[in-house]
Amino acid sequence: MTDSASNKPMLFNPISLRDITLKNRVVIAPMATYSAVDGIAQDFHFAHWGRLVLGGAGCVFVEATAVTDQGRITNGDLGIWSDAHVAPLKRITDFMKAQNVVPTIQLAHAGRKGSMQRPWHGNGALTAEDFARGEKKWDTVAPTAEPMAKGHIVPHPLSIAELGTLKNDWVSAAKRSVSAGFDVLEIHNAHGYLIHQFLSPISNTRDDGYGGDLKGRMRFPLEVAEALRDVWPSAKPVFVRVSAVDGLDGGWSLDDTVVYAKELKARGIDVIDCSSGGLFGSATAARVKRTWGFQVPYAERVRREAGINTMAVGLIIDPFLADKILQNGQADLIAIAREALVNPCWPQMAEITLGRQASDAMDDWPEQYGWWLKHRERSIAQIRADEDAATDQLLVNRGH
Ligand SMILES: Cc1cc2nc3c(=O)[nH]c(=O)nc-3n(C[C@H](O)[C@H](O)[C@H](O)COP(=O)(O)O)c2cc1C
Repeated sequence: MTDSASNKPMLFNPISLRDITLKNRVVIAPMATYSAVDGIAQDFHFAHWGRLVLGGAGCVFVEATAVTDQGRITNGDLGIWSDAHVAPLKRITDFMKAQNVVPTIQLAHAGRKGSMQRPWHGNGALTAEDFARGEKKWDTVAPTAEPMAKGHIVPHPLSIAELGTLKNDWVSAAKRSVSAGFDVLEIHNAHGYLIHQFLSPISNTRDDGYGGDLKGRMRFPLEVAEALRDVWPSAKPVFVRVSAVDGLDGGWSLDDTVVYAKELKARGIDVIDCSSGGLFGSATAARVKRTWGFQVPYAERVRREAGINTMAVGLIIDPFLADKILQNGQADLIAIAREALVNPCWPQMAEITLGRQASDAMDDWPEQYGWWLKHRERSIAQIRADEDAATDQLLVNRGH
């Protein structure tokens, strides 16, 4: 990329993926809010995503969206398994496009990690207390009948015929996502959910053609990727989020991810979004030591060895680090999650931190904010100049 020579922040360079152009490289990562009713987005979602959309990112994800009702993690998961789900999502994608933000959906199926408590109710199997507050439980499916952990529902092992039906469910969800106005589709292959359950040798101990060696374990995930790439408009990109490592003995490894990424690339996948862990319990690999940008090495190796665009995610908060990751060629996109909940304007403020004049940057903010703030910048500059002049005068008066 040309920009390391000019020292211009790459974070704010546009990027084109197929016919879709992101105005910058900042992506707001998928963040489930577990606040849907029967999978349908509510006012909360519109306000939550709206807050993120107005903050200046090139692309904003709506959260993990279940392709079937059985594929939800919790009763509050967003879904797109029926036409009734489309209109509230279309409302937000229209708003995103009006703000020059690329709307992105992450399609997901929880597999054996379904029928669980919302995180703030315990993140475990549903209990009598949850049923008392109206939560419902449902049967789950997985590659095998092995539950995620003791106390969780024993999943139904998917037959080959059922895998075919499920693939059609993913395809129907992708078609509805087009109707809902999304420009980017991400397939959730990470965090211990259904597709990851097929990939990992720990959770996939099937002895038919959909298990066994790496090729067998990748078979269903690649069939889904291929089917979705086929129905997703060719002008629009498809991302795949992987858990690049399980972080468990005998689990899915970074070497496996590189092989998988090459196969995905051959099927027309555009970006590999590199997360980690989650096969059991919480979403990321507990054994991977937390530090700033701790998952960047995964994005870097996949990008280098599979020759595909990658997205880096995880504890990237400092704009200089975000930009350096791009300048170093470790990733093509930077995803921000929790920090955007603290500060939805992270992208706008990052651009100023990286050296753009605030008054110029504000020209690109929503005019309802930018116009006023630009004028305030002038007042602030004048106040500071007056203060400096007063200090200088004071020093002169004191004979300094
Ligand atoms: C509230 C919350 C919800 C999340 N939901 C999802 C999700 O729906 N899909 C997904 O792939 N990752 C999900 N994640 C993981 C984030 O996308 C991201 O990978 C992770 O938070 C690390 O990035 P960060 O350090 O910038 O927060 C979620 C994270 C949070 C905090």
